[in-house]
Amino acid sequence: MTGSSLRRQDSPYLRVRSALAEQAGESLARELPRGYHRIGQAALVRIPERLLPWERVIGESYRKVLGVDLVLRQDRIQKGASRAPGVFVIAGTRPSIDVTDGGIVWRTDPTRLMFSKGNMEERHRMARIAQPGEVVADLFAGIGYFALPLARYCHPRAVVAVEKNPVAFAFLEENIRLNRLENCVSARLGDNRAIDLPRGSFDRVLMGYLPSALPFLDRAAELLHPGGGWVHLHTVVSTRCGDRLVRSITERVQRAGRGLQAMRIRRVKSYGPSRDHVVADLLLVG
Ligand SMILES: C[S@@+](CC[C@H](N)C(=O)[O-])C[C@H]1O[C@@H](n2cnc3c(N)ncnc32)[C@H](O)[C@@H]1O
Repeated sequence: MTGSSLRRQDSPYLRVRSALAEQAGESLARELPRGYHRIGQAALVRIPERLLPWERVIGESYRKVLGVDLVLRQDRIQKGASRAPGVFVIAGTRPSIDVTDGGIVWRTDPTRLMFSKGNMEERHRMARIAQPGEVVADLFAGIGYFALPLARYCHPRAVVAVEKNPVAFAFLEENIRLNRLENCVSARLGDNRAIDLPRGSFDRVLMGYLPSALPFLDRAAELLHPGGGWVHLHTVVSTRCGDRLVRSITERVQRAGRGLQAMRIRRVKSYGPSRDHVVADLLLVG
């Protein structure tokens, strides 16, 4: 196909492929992957190695065809606590984007921070998880992925959002202001194990951290009221040995001197071959 044979109703992929074919030739253009992701005013594309010399052409075409501000090339997610996204700008110059979902806006820099589309349902669930008047701690707040919907819709008394990465923390503070939640959410910069938080004071603790928040369960246990409360613990599990997680959680809760009154495990998304991202809802008592 050539540029002149393009029709307006052709898919974005076909229009970009055609623009690429004009510059790089049809045989290379055939290697362009069909898929792309939208995150707010940005598009994320994967580009095979042989097409990297043409990434600007691809980026500019997607920017025009989709009408987005920014086009990003997605590489692999980096390992480590901050899970840097491995994303590079190939068209556009905006330093940040706004992602709006369910009445919340998250400002973020997708080249430096993750924004997982696959966690959308969990963000929505957090908007209805808590009872009015609760005091909630989010130990891995990021830019406010879970703390903000909870604060906006559940009417908690207070949400304390802890984040150790200064880049994410700056967006967290900005997002609290953008969503006018300053009266409810307070942001704290630092490692959740070291930061001074009042023990025995929380009704609920959010633990949205991968590959696993399990090593931090003791910290959540000491923060909950003496009578108990809920923990939402995220982790990656192998789909082949499902009950290992149940055993590990049970042991850790016992070691923390608490009882486990209820446990529900929900799948959040696939996390690669034979691996799932899950969240365990735990009701700790005593
Ligand atoms: C990727 S985010 C949360 C992801 C989010 N739940 C979502 O919807 O995509 C996890 C955050 O936890 C932060 N973090 C990791 N270890 C931490 C610690 N010990 N104390 C405080 N924050 C931590 C990371 O900097 C990161 O911003």
